[in-house]
Amino acid sequence: PNVVLIGAPIDSGQRRPGCLMGPAALRVAGIAQAIRDLGHGLEDWGDLALGDLAAVACENPAVHSLAETLGWTEALADKTDDALSAGSLPIILGGDHSLALGSVAGAAAHAARQGRTLFLLWLDAHSDFHTPMTTTSGNLHGTPVAYIAGRSGFDAFPPFPAPIPAERICLYGIRSVDPAEHAALLRHDIAINDMRVLDERGIVAPLREFLETVRAAGGMLHVSLDVDFLDPSIAPAVGTTVPGGTTFREAHLVMELLHESGLVTSLDLVELNPFLDERGRTARLMVDLVASLMGRKVFDRPTRGYA
Ligand code: ARG
Ligand code: MN
Ligand code: MN
Ligand code: MN
Repeated sequence: PNVVLIGAPIDSGQRRPGCLMGPAALRVAGIAQAIRDLGHGLEDWGDLALGDLAAVACENPAVHSLAETLGWTEALADKTDDALSAGSLPIILGGDHSLALGSVAGAAAHAARQGRTLFLLWLDAHSDFHTPMTTTSGNLHGTPVAYIAGRSGFDAFPPFPAPIPAERICLYGIRSVDPAEHAALLRHDIAINDMRVLDERGIVAPLREFLETVRAAGGMLHVSLDVDFLDPSIAPAVGTTVPGGTTFREAHLVMELLHESGLVTSLDLVELNPFLDERGRTARLMVDLVASLMGRKVFDRPTRGYA
């Protein structure tokens, strides 16, 4: 497909500065060339800028940077929708995970207009299922899945266009869930592939099951890839490291399965904090994972019973 890069230099969803350098690091690591080398068309729309901010208040005093996050949400929703409407596959270069409040809203608006069904694959150590009312850290990067699922508590935000029902959401790689998120997740029917599940079943079977449901529904699929999905030993450049993440090989296999499915319609790359990186290794790993997702492989052999 034709790929559109959308830079989202966003730091406001958490407190550790540096994610705003993420789009630059991904470009320096060669994301555009890696995608072109695979034969895809590519346009880089540059970095988004924040417009004028509305005056907004939140009942939860812990919440910070609400106006900025709201501004980014609206800008990202618009651009993601634009890229999809142009028939392209948008890749959002983050930026912290709060950008998914906007990117997935844009994808959902587009899907709704097309009469198509949108699915969400959340590759992350965290469930990001807080609302602005339940977060104790006040960091809104911990909230996008709740917004996308249509939970209440997002009064300051535009109503989420066509919330994605729980059974179309798959959380993958989860190993850090706060008590309020835990309680709320139990009330929803979201597929939670935490590390306990992936250790026992391996990473292939649960993902194939989810991809089969997407295929059967003729759905669109938004993939949101948080750097902390990966084990910190291979991906140190993230503010919220959690031990026990996916390995290099597992992560590439996930990307290869996604490629073979042919189902991915939009992608976020989030939480890369280049200030915490070691000689660019995390940025380069993220680019290599994108290349696997876009079709890079060692041997181009026919896939067995899939694709
Ligand atoms: N649950 C924690 C919080 O609300 C961590 C969230 C981490 N989210 C992320 N996108 N890295 O603060
Ligand atoms: Mn527009
Ligand atoms: Mn996240
Ligand atoms: Mn995370």
